[in-house]
Amino acid sequence: MKVMFVCLGNICRSPAAQAVLEMRLEQRGLSDQIEVESSGIDSYHVGQLSDSRMRRAAKRYDVDIYHHSRQFKRQDLKEYDLILAMDRDNYSDIMRMTDDETQRRAVKMFRDFDPEGSGDVPDPYYGGVHGFDNVMVMLLRTCDIIIDSIL
Ligand code: 4NP
Repeated sequence: MKVMFVCLGNICRSPAAQAVLEMRLEQRGLSDQIEVESSGIDSYHVGQLSDSRMRRAAKRYDVDIYHHSRQFKRQDLKEYDLILAMDRDNYSDIMRMTDDETQRRAVKMFRDFDPEGSGDVPDPYYGGVHGFDNVMVMLLRTCDIIIDSIL
Protein backbone atom coordinates (compact mmCIF):
# COMPACT_ATOMS: atom_id res chain seq x y z
CA MET A 1 0.00 0.00 0.00
CA LYS A 2 1.42 3.37 -1.04
CA VAL A 3 0.17 6.72 0.26
CA MET A 4 1.06 10.13 -1.16
CA PHE A 5 0.34 13.51 0.50
CA VAL A 6 0.17 16.50 -1.83
CA CYS A 7 0.23 20.24 -1.08
CA LEU A 8 1.38 23.25 -3.08
CA GLY A 9 5.08 23.62 -2.27
CA ASN A 10 5.86 20.31 -0.50
CA ILE A 11 7.74 22.24 2.18
CA CYS A 12 5.03 22.67 4.85
CA ARG A 13 1.82 20.64 5.04
CA SER A 14 2.51 17.47 3.04
CA PRO A 15 6.03 16.71 4.35
CA ALA A 16 4.70 17.24 7.89
CA ALA A 17 1.82 14.84 7.13
CA GLN A 18 4.31 12.30 5.78
CA ALA A 19 6.46 12.61 8.92
CA VAL A 20 3.46 12.20 11.26
CA LEU A 21 2.10 9.18 9.38
CA GLU A 22 5.55 7.55 9.30
CA MET A 23 5.97 8.19 13.04
CA ARG A 24 2.58 6.61 13.84
CA LEU A 25 3.31 3.61 11.61
CA GLU A 26 6.65 3.14 13.34
CA GLN A 27 5.03 3.39 16.79
CA ARG A 28 2.38 0.84 15.83
CA GLY A 29 4.87 -1.56 14.20
CA LEU A 30 3.21 -1.12 10.80
CA SER A 31 6.03 0.52 8.82
CA ASP A 32 6.42 -2.47 6.50
CA GLN A 33 2.76 -2.32 5.45
CA ILE A 34 2.37 1.25 4.23
CA GLU A 35 4.85 3.24 2.18
CA VAL A 36 4.55 7.02 2.55
CA GLU A 37 5.67 9.88 0.29
CA SER A 38 4.78 13.53 -0.27
CA SER A 39 5.03 15.98 -3.14
CA GLY A 40 3.98 19.43 -4.32
CA ILE A 41 1.93 20.70 -7.23
CA ASP A 42 4.44 23.51 -7.69
CA SER A 43 8.09 22.93 -8.69
CA TYR A 44 9.27 26.14 -7.04
CA HIS A 45 10.86 24.54 -3.95
CA VAL A 46 12.09 21.27 -5.51
CA GLY A 47 15.13 19.85 -3.71
CA GLN A 48 14.70 22.07 -0.66
CA LEU A 49 14.32 20.88 2.91
CA SER A 50 10.98 21.68 4.53
CA ASP A 51 10.33 25.23 5.76
CA SER A 52 12.21 25.81 9.03
CA ARG A 53 9.00 27.12 10.67
CA MET A 54 7.26 23.82 9.83
CA ARG A 55 10.21 21.79 11.11
CA ARG A 56 10.25 23.77 14.36
CA ALA A 57 6.51 23.31 14.85
CA ALA A 58 6.86 19.55 14.18
CA LYS A 59 9.68 19.37 16.70
CA ARG A 60 7.39 20.87 19.36
CA TYR A 61 5.29 17.72 18.89
CA ASP A 62 8.35 15.41 18.81
CA VAL A 63 8.14 14.91 15.05
CA ASP A 64 11.22 15.16 12.79
CA ILE A 65 10.86 16.13 9.13
CA TYR A 66 13.71 15.13 6.79
CA HIS A 67 11.98 15.34 3.41
CA HIS A 68 13.34 17.19 0.35
CA SER A 69 10.67 18.79 -1.82
CA ARG A 70 9.68 17.06 -5.03
CA GLN A 71 6.96 17.77 -7.56
CA PHE A 72 3.82 15.65 -8.01
CA LYS A 73 3.91 13.86 -11.39
CA ARG A 74 1.30 12.18 -13.56
CA GLN A 75 3.20 8.90 -13.05
CA ASP A 76 2.40 9.10 -9.30
CA LEU A 77 -1.25 8.45 -10.17
CA LYS A 78 -0.20 5.05 -11.52
CA GLU A 79 1.96 4.20 -8.52
CA TYR A 80 0.06 5.35 -5.42
CA ASP A 81 -3.04 3.68 -3.99
CA LEU A 82 -4.17 6.68 -1.94
CA ILE A 83 -3.41 10.30 -2.82
CA LEU A 84 -4.37 12.83 -0.16
CA ALA A 85 -4.71 16.47 -1.17
CA MET A 86 -4.17 18.98 1.63
CA ASP A 87 -6.57 21.56 0.14
CA ARG A 88 -9.20 21.95 -2.57
CA ASP A 89 -6.84 23.63 -5.03
CA ASN A 90 -4.40 20.72 -4.73
CA TYR A 91 -7.34 18.33 -5.17
CA SER A 92 -8.52 19.94 -8.43
CA ASP A 93 -4.98 20.15 -9.79
CA ILE A 94 -4.45 16.43 -9.14
CA MET A 95 -7.87 15.50 -10.55
CA ARG A 96 -7.04 17.33 -13.77
CA MET A 97 -4.06 14.99 -14.26
CA THR A 98 -6.05 11.75 -13.83
CA ASP A 99 -6.66 9.43 -16.80
CA ASP A 100 -9.40 7.13 -15.55
CA GLU A 101 -11.89 6.29 -12.82
CA THR A 102 -9.45 4.09 -10.88
CA GLN A 103 -7.07 7.01 -10.55
CA ARG A 104 -9.86 9.42 -9.61
CA ARG A 105 -11.06 7.07 -6.87
CA ALA A 106 -7.59 7.10 -5.28
CA VAL A 107 -7.62 10.89 -4.80
CA LYS A 108 -9.17 12.19 -1.58
CA MET A 109 -9.01 15.25 0.63
CA PHE A 110 -6.84 14.80 3.73
CA ARG A 111 -9.58 16.23 5.94
CA ASP A 112 -12.10 13.64 4.72
CA PHE A 113 -10.46 11.65 7.55
CA ASP A 114 -10.41 14.46 10.15
CA PRO A 115 -12.83 13.66 12.99
CA GLU A 116 -13.18 17.36 13.83
CA GLY A 117 -13.82 19.03 10.50
CA SER A 118 -13.49 18.96 6.74
CA GLY A 119 -12.25 21.13 3.87
CA ASP A 120 -8.74 22.57 3.62
CA VAL A 121 -5.70 22.13 5.80
CA PRO A 122 -5.07 25.91 5.81
CA ASP A 123 -1.85 26.96 4.09
CA PRO A 124 0.43 28.27 6.88
CA TYR A 125 3.11 29.72 4.58
CA TYR A 126 2.19 33.41 4.72
CA GLY A 127 0.94 33.43 8.31
CA GLY A 128 2.38 33.27 11.81
CA VAL A 129 3.54 30.47 14.09
CA HIS A 130 0.00 29.58 15.10
CA GLY A 131 -0.78 28.35 11.57
CA PHE A 132 2.02 25.79 11.73
CA ASP A 133 0.89 24.50 15.12
CA ASN A 134 -2.65 24.30 13.78
CA VAL A 135 -1.41 22.09 10.93
CA MET A 136 0.37 19.80 13.42
CA VAL A 137 -2.76 19.43 15.57
CA MET A 138 -4.85 18.47 12.51
CA LEU A 139 -2.24 15.96 11.34
CA LEU A 140 -1.82 14.35 14.75
CA ARG A 141 -5.54 13.76 15.29
CA THR A 142 -6.09 12.44 11.74
CA CYS A 143 -3.18 10.14 10.82
CA ASP A 144 -4.27 7.19 12.99
CA ILE A 145 -7.68 7.30 11.36
CA ILE A 146 -6.05 7.18 7.92
CA ILE A 147 -4.04 4.11 8.97
CA ASP A 148 -7.15 2.39 10.38
CA SER A 149 -9.14 3.09 7.24
CA ILE A 150 -6.44 1.54 5.04
CA LEU A 151 -5.62 -1.60 7.03
P1 4NP B 1 2.84 24.03 1.43
O1 4NP B 1 3.04 25.59 1.76
O2 4NP B 1 2.01 23.96 0.17
O3 4NP B 1 2.12 23.53 2.63
O4 4NP B 1 4.23 23.43 1.25
C1 4NP B 1 3.47 26.53 0.81
C2 4NP B 1 4.80 26.60 0.49
C3 4NP B 1 5.25 27.56 -0.41
C4 4NP B 1 4.34 28.45 -0.98
C5 4NP B 1 2.99 28.37 -0.65
C6 4NP B 1 2.56 27.40 0.25
N1 4NP B 1 4.79 29.44 -1.86
O5 4NP B 1 3.96 30.27 -2.30
O6 4NP B 1 5.99 29.50 -2.18
